[in-house]
Amino acid sequence: MQYINLADNIYFLGYNDRRTNLFENIWPIPHGISYNSYLIVDEKITLIDTVERSFIDEYLESIEEIIGNRPIDYLVINHMEPDHSGALKAIVNKYPEITLVGNKKTFAFVESFYMEPENVHMVHDNDVLELGKHRLQFQTIPMVHWPETMVTFEETNNILFSGDAFGSYGTLDGGIFDDEINLDFYEIEVMRYFTNIVGKYCPHTQRAIKKLAPLNIKMIAATHGPIWRTDLDWVLTRYNKWSSYDLDKGVVIVYGSMYGNTQKMAEVIARRLAEKGIKNIRVYDASKTHSSYIINDIFKYKGFIVGSPAYNNALFPNVQTLLSTIEHMAPKNHYLGIFGNFAWNGGGVKNLKLFAENIKWEQVYEPIEEKGSLKKERKEELLKLADAMAEKLHADFE
Ligand code: FEO
Repeated sequence: MQYINLADNIYFLGYNDRRTNLFENIWPIPHGISYNSYLIVDEKITLIDTVERSFIDEYLESIEEIIGNRPIDYLVINHMEPDHSGALKAIVNKYPEITLVGNKKTFAFVESFYMEPENVHMVHDNDVLELGKHRLQFQTIPMVHWPETMVTFEETNNILFSGDAFGSYGTLDGGIFDDEINLDFYEIEVMRYFTNIVGKYCPHTQRAIKKLAPLNIKMIAATHGPIWRTDLDWVLTRYNKWSSYDLDKGVVIVYGSMYGNTQKMAEVIARRLAEKGIKNIRVYDASKTHSSYIINDIFKYKGFIVGSPAYNNALFPNVQTLLSTIEHMAPKNHYLGIFGNFAWNGGGVKNLKLFAENIKWEQVYEPIEEKGSLKKERKEELLKLADAMAEKLHADFE
C-alpha cells in the first residue's frame, strides 16, 4: 500500500494481508487484515511499530521513499507480537544506530524473539520523547494485548498510536480513515478482533480505557484496521461495552450432533424461546461454525445454551473445543442451560456439568439428557429450560 499522511510529516505505512487464512494460525480472516506502522519525520525520525515479516521489502522501500538516505533515530515498540515486530530485525540491520524505545518489559521480548538490543531508551508512564516539533508521550496498557503493551500519544496532533487496542480484522480496501469507509463492514470485524484477541483481557481493557480518558485524543491509529479521526466514539463506545460484559437480550444455542438428535433438541429450545418473545436467537452447529464467530455472539448475548451428545464417553469434540475457548476467555454475566444425548453410558451432559462448574454462570434450569431420539417427556423438559431462560432475560431487560 502506498504511504498516506495522517498529519504533517506523519505517515501511515499499512499493508494488506489477503493471503493468511488464520490469524495467529487460529482465527479465520476471510476478509484479511492490515498491519499498520507509522513514521514521523522530524529532527528525529521515528517509526512506531513495524509490520509482519512478509511485507519487509516493500516496507523498507516505502520508508526510503519518504526519508531518502536519512537514518531512523527511534523505533517505538508499542507491542512486540510478531505481526508488528516482524520487521524489527530488518530495521535494525538497515539502521544500526537506531534506538529502540520501549518499557521495562519490552526489551526482554526483543532479546527472546530477535537479538540483544544495543541502543535502548526505556520509558515509563507519562514520559515524553522530544522529536523536534513532535512530542511523544507513553502510557503502558498491560495485557492489551501482551504484558509489555503500551500506547504512544503524539501531542502536537493529538494522535493516539494504540497498538492492538481499537484494531480490527479486515483489510483496508482503499479507504483507511473511518470517514472514508462504510463502517457497517467493520462492525463484525472490529468486534471479532476484540473478542478473539483481546477478549480474555476485558478487565485490563477497562483499566486502559480509564487510564487514557484524560488524553485529548483526536485520532486513533491502531496497528490493524481503520484509523479513527471523525467518529472516535464509534469504536470507544463499543470497546467500553464489550470489555465491561454489557450484554444484550438474546440467546446463543450451540450444539454438536452426529445424526440429528441433539440438533432436534436445540431446535425445540430455539422455537420456544421465540414463542416467549426472545428475538435474538443464534443457533450454531459447533462442527460448522468456527468458535471465532460463536465467541463473538457470546460476548453479545446474555443467554447461552449448549448441547452435546456423548462421544466415546466424552463431550463431542467440536463442542469441547468451543467450551475450552470459552473457559479460556472467561466472559462473565451469562445465564446457562445445558442438554445432551447419549446412546449407551453417556459422557456429554456429564462433562457439560463440569463446564458449568468451571465457568460459574448461573444455570437457569437443571441439565437435560435424552437417550436416542427425542421423546415427549424430555421435550417437555426442554420447553421448561427455554421458559426459564426467557423469564430470566425478560426480568433483566424490562
Ligand atoms: Fe496485532 Fe497482539 O498483535
